[in-house]
Amino acid sequence: MRSVKFKLKNGKTVIIRSIQESDYDTVVEYLEKFSHDIGAVQTTMYPGRKKPSKEEFIKKYGTDENKLNIAVWDDKKIVGIAMISKERPDNLYYKGRTAGIGLSVLHEYTYNGIGGKILDTLEKWAKENGVKTIKAEIRHKNIPSIINCIKHGFIITGICYNAVYINGKWIHEYIAQKEL
Ligand SMILES: CC(C)(COP(=O)(O)OP(=O)(O)OC[C@H]1O[C@@H](n2cnc3c(N)ncnc32)[C@H](O)[C@@H]1OP(=O)(O)O)[C@@H](O)C(=O)NCCC(=O)NCCS
Repeated sequence: MRSVKFKLKNGKTVIIRSIQESDYDTVVEYLEKFSHDIGAVQTTMYPGRKKPSKEEFIKKYGTDENKLNIAVWDDKKIVGIAMISKERPDNLYYKGRTAGIGLSVLHEYTYNGIGGKILDTLEKWAKENGVKTIKAEIRHKNIPSIINCIKHGFIITGICYNAVYINGKWIHEYIAQKEL
């Protein structure tokens, strides 16, 4: 994707672009920082989670027509990361038309419009790539993410009870979808 500049609510300008192989160190640094910021309650990026090797990184973030990995840069620092991936790419028998999304923003950069801009960017890629439905799985107490998705036209279409067990409690996950 083309890199896109945009202005945050606090006046700073940041850039969104797709992640490249040369971004390995910056991405690992971000993952480390984010997992400590947020802990494990809202996302799968828990503190101490094994960081990807260079090979795993290339496999996950390398170019692939069925997915897009993007990051938001404030100068040389990544402050947000997101992905969209077709769940069942086309094969001989059917056309896969749903894509799953995931996104995160560093805590000190939240409430500035990045989460919303990321959703717009993922949606644009989805439309350009034949996707009809985008889907997020959101832990049930993750109010910022629920609000962000609802404000961008997602609806809650289901719930997965007891999706994960964290700190002695079962956490459910909402399925939120947007028809494009
Ligand atoms: C969810 C998340 C991506 C939102 O990012 P963000 O950059 O703060 O989002 P924005 O600033 O664009 O806010 C989007 C909308 O949600 C609202 N919002 C965000 N956080 C909110 C909160 N805690 N309470 C109420 N509203 C909130 C904003 O006001 C905004 O509405 P507006 O456009 O009418 O002003 C961010 O909080 C985050 O990274 N959370 C941890 C990771 C995560 O939960 N990822 C999603 C997993 S499904």
